[in-house]
Amino acid sequence: MLFAFCYGHISLSPMSRDRQCSQLASSLLSWFAANARDLPWRRTRDPYAIWVSEIMLQQTQVKTVIPYYDRWMRKLPTIEALAKAHPDKIHKLWEGLGYYTRVRNMQKAAQQIIAEHDGKFPQTFDAVLAFPGVGRYTAGAICSIAFNQPTPILDGNVIRVLTRVYGIKTDPREKQTNAQIWHLAGLLVNEAALPRPETLCFASRASHLNQSLMELGALLCTPRSPNCTACPVQKLCVAQKERRQDQLPNLAKREAVTKRRCIAFVVERDGKYLVRQRPEGVVNAHLWEFPNAETGARVCDPQHTTAKGWGLSITASKPLRTIIHSITRYRITLEAWRAEPAAASAKLPGHWLTPKQLDQLAFTSAHKKILAHLGAPFSKSAH
Ligand code: ADE
Repeated sequence: MLFAFCYGHISLSPMSRDRQCSQLASSLLSWFAANARDLPWRRTRDPYAIWVSEIMLQQTQVKTVIPYYDRWMRKLPTIEALAKAHPDKIHKLWEGLGYYTRVRNMQKAAQQIIAEHDGKFPQTFDAVLAFPGVGRYTAGAICSIAFNQPTPILDGNVIRVLTRVYGIKTDPREKQTNAQIWHLAGLLVNEAALPRPETLCFASRASHLNQSLMELGALLCTPRSPNCTACPVQKLCVAQKERRQDQLPNLAKREAVTKRRCIAFVVERDGKYLVRQRPEGVVNAHLWEFPNAETGARVCDPQHTTAKGWGLSITASKPLRTIIHSITRYRITLEAWRAEPAAASAKLPGHWLTPKQLDQLAFTSAHKKILAHLGAPFSKSAH
């Protein structure tokens, strides 16, 4: 039966599709062997370590993750250590990485491994996929990197590489196109895993193929100004042939940014500061912060109005520090003001802690910047 396979505008016969797939896989593998970065999680096949790295690498860049990963593996080197760790400890180790549900899910999964898998990291894709916080990408990455299984992966980097190489013009977030790209990622990793007489290093080909896609997306096939002249698959790349690199992937525009404004208060009494812990079930649950509230754009004197609500009054004419930070589609301006209890007898909700005690706790990123601004004796960094 003769049929054509279409990716965007290109149609390939099954034979040329197979040849292209095998050329792509072998070019990617050779390039990876010569160009892979020496990253700490690439020096191990321990599935626990690879799982830790993959969870940290969700939403976070490699250079940010490295010191967190090294510190985590020193302090919690095993599944058992993670399962038993105090929640304060795991939050402190994660402080600054954001998306803290990730770390709570990891601990739940570690406890699940102890209870259901006799403490041994399971080796099947479905069992790994069943962990809280693990989706198809992460399960695929863990099973391919730790166990060399031909499980495909598809994240932002891989989507960019594959939509460009195959010239896929439809939106990769759209269901059908997304399924098509997963399929291509599967063909490639399965091709790499085929036993071939000419290949010696068979034991890591699925792992290396997946990592070569991540690496190509991170190092050469970048969102802007990709380095096509250095690319190992430039001759096979439809986007390069058609000079369409900057049009692919064809992602629909994201929602517009929404501005928000918050006020926080630095209240000191006898060398101690008033802080509180965020409750369960809210964003950044379990992390610590100074008393604060969101203010409506139309409130007049928002800092004074908000302080009053907390039983505080402002003691300065300008903010101690203004922090601008972005979370998902929100751009948040946080003003930190010095304040004092409005009445000596006021009962203020929260804890009064010394700088030394504050240093032991995990703060939200924005409030960590307020702490850093207060200077010594606060430590500048968690590392
Ligand atoms: N991004 C996600 N997983 C990665 C890995 N294992 N190595 C480098 N970058 C990554």
